[in-house]
Amino acid sequence: MVHVSLGLDTNELPKNINIAPNEWTLSKPDVKPSGFLADIAGVGYLYRRFLRRYIPAIISLVLLNAVTGLLVAAVPLSVAPAASVVLNEHPDPASSLAGITLDNLGPSIMSWLRLDPHNVFAVMLTVAVLYVSLTVLAATLKTVAFILSVRVSCGTLHDMITALHRHVVSLPLSFFNAKREGDVISRFTSDTTATVNLLDGLIRGLFQALIQAFFLFFVLFRTDPLLSLATITIGGMHFLITRSMGGWVRRRTKAVYDFYGRMTAALQESLQNIRITKCLAAEQFDYARLDSEAGKVRDSLYSFRIARYAEEPVRLVADALSVCAMLFLAYYAMTSGRLTRSGFGMFVFLAARVVGPISDASKHLLSVFAVAGSSERLLEIFSLRTSMPEGVKHAPQFRSDIRFEDVSFSHENGTMILNSINLQIRRGEMVAIVGPSGGGKSTLCDLLLRLHDPVRGRVSFDGEDIRNFNKATYLRHFGVVPQESLLLNASVIDNVLYGRTADQESFEEAIRVANATAFIDAMPERENTMIGDRGVRLSGGQRQRLAIARAVYGHPEILVLDEATSALDAESELVVQRAIDNAIRSITAVVVAHRLSTIIQSDKIVVMDNGRIDGIGTHQELLATNTIYKRLYSLHIRESSNSHA
Ligand SMILES: Nc1ncnc2c1ncn2[C@@H]1O[C@H](COP(=O)(O)OP(=O)(O)OP(=O)(O)O)[C@@H](O)[C@H]1O
Ligand SMILES: [Mg+2]
Repeated sequence: MVHVSLGLDTNELPKNINIAPNEWTLSKPDVKPSGFLADIAGVGYLYRRFLRRYIPAIISLVLLNAVTGLLVAAVPLSVAPAASVVLNEHPDPASSLAGITLDNLGPSIMSWLRLDPHNVFAVMLTVAVLYVSLTVLAATLKTVAFILSVRVSCGTLHDMITALHRHVVSLPLSFFNAKREGDVISRFTSDTTATVNLLDGLIRGLFQALIQAFFLFFVLFRTDPLLSLATITIGGMHFLITRSMGGWVRRRTKAVYDFYGRMTAALQESLQNIRITKCLAAEQFDYARLDSEAGKVRDSLYSFRIARYAEEPVRLVADALSVCAMLFLAYYAMTSGRLTRSGFGMFVFLAARVVGPISDASKHLLSVFAVAGSSERLLEIFSLRTSMPEGVKHAPQFRSDIRFEDVSFSHENGTMILNSINLQIRRGEMVAIVGPSGGGKSTLCDLLLRLHDPVRGRVSFDGEDIRNFNKATYLRHFGVVPQESLLLNASVIDNVLYGRTADQESFEEAIRVANATAFIDAMPERENTMIGDRGVRLSGGQRQRLAIARAVYGHPEILVLDEATSALDAESELVVQRAIDNAIRSITAVVVAHRLSTIIQSDKIVVMDNGRIDGIGTHQELLATNTIYKRLYSLHIRESSNSHA
């Protein structure tokens, strides 16, 4: 059966993310490394999806960066008049903007500003004022652009994390069986941050670099078209460097983040199991587990850093070669009479400046590849589609019965966990489910609560297949105490309400039913006391009673209770048992029961063994006919006489 289909929504996902349609496991959606855009398609998809709402801000940013880029490129040109007065060259100024070349740039600027070329001091002073004011303007615009781009990137990070969280929470339980929590968490923290951090650099750096490069290219082109072709060659060379390193860098980032995810998972397990580690003095074992994962992070990071660094020396040499080539080309142009001496000076000055932005733009492009590994990890999750569609029907009040009709179920590995289950739970009835460990009792409860769907057969609620109901309206009828109830690091009352509307009277009643009033009253801040991570500040029995209070809050019609077998001492056992007895009184209840009193008083006992129902009946009936039940019962008798002895 397929709980999660790695289906491709062709409208949304990049075309090259290939995911086998019926494969449920989370093996990576394969981004085929073919073609230049294919490698960074994931980044493109995420940006298109999350940047939509920032389009006005992004347009403003592009404009701001264009102006800033032009200014930054134009500032050095403002020294042209100084060059011509110092070298005492005064060709005719250009009559229009179109007529400007590097040779007549200085005289043109002087003629616009009505400067006397013979008054060298005035020219120098004007050049200085122009240079500083243009720089101040560029710096101001840069600051505004920076603030705006930080707003966009922080907003995008927020949107990406919350969207990812909604998506993950909506995935079926089978996803969580397959994925390690720590790895999923690392996608929330490091992969989103990496993907968004790139944005800052791209918006500010890439645009500015491109605009500067184009502007300077234009100026060079006006001076000498042949010479400026050299600039295109530099651009092409840098693009080739980026292209040849792109796939290499992407694969290494992916490896780093994959190992980082595994290390986070190991770390999380280490912290969650700290009690058992200390009890067993198993610190060395714990260290070894983390050391091994941290070692893989170190090695992959080392390999990534080297791959990423390789860019530096390669580009440095490429830049040096370009500058030298331009120097010779300009010298050749000057000796052949195409360029004046000041034109030569300006050309070399600008050529050195055009290399920088071209190299920068290519570096930014390579960082897109570096981030593609992280985006791929985010897409692995975003591309998962739940195959548990909800119905639209509103589940009405519970009237007659819930039925399991020939229900079979298996997890993805194909082993049948439940086999042809037929069971009726009538309204008002108390049904106990008993049987050996691993028999499928908790799984049966999961199917009742639509945590999984049957592979065959159906579960019906007053005759209607529960798949037809809107899940929330269906689940509102249930109160649930799972086998391992987890508590939040929040106050007692928040743990009981768990997001439902607060009602003091119902809360008081819930804790009374759960036999929890006395211990809550004894806490320093009563129901507002914080209970610590997973309820560590409570005792085992208190945690169980709080879970029962949560289940009975708001008067559910059906209670599903998977009794924890964790050993409590006789006295706690007794208070928890009383809480359970209170909770299931005069209500429809399905109880996976280990406690004698619960079993004996139920209307119907279901004996489950190896995924099948081995017998259904009352206590007396089963005692007379069912061997498994007889064995379990004698065990219970022995246990309870021991514990109450
Ligand atoms: N995610 C899973 N993937 C594969 N098999 C699973 C998964 N979860 C549970 N199982 C298997 O399903 C079977 C039934 O498990 P279930 O939790 O329903 O047993 P149970 O009757 O509640 O046992 P216990 O009394 O110990 O709580 C077990 O054999 C278990 O190994
Ligand atoms: Mg169980």
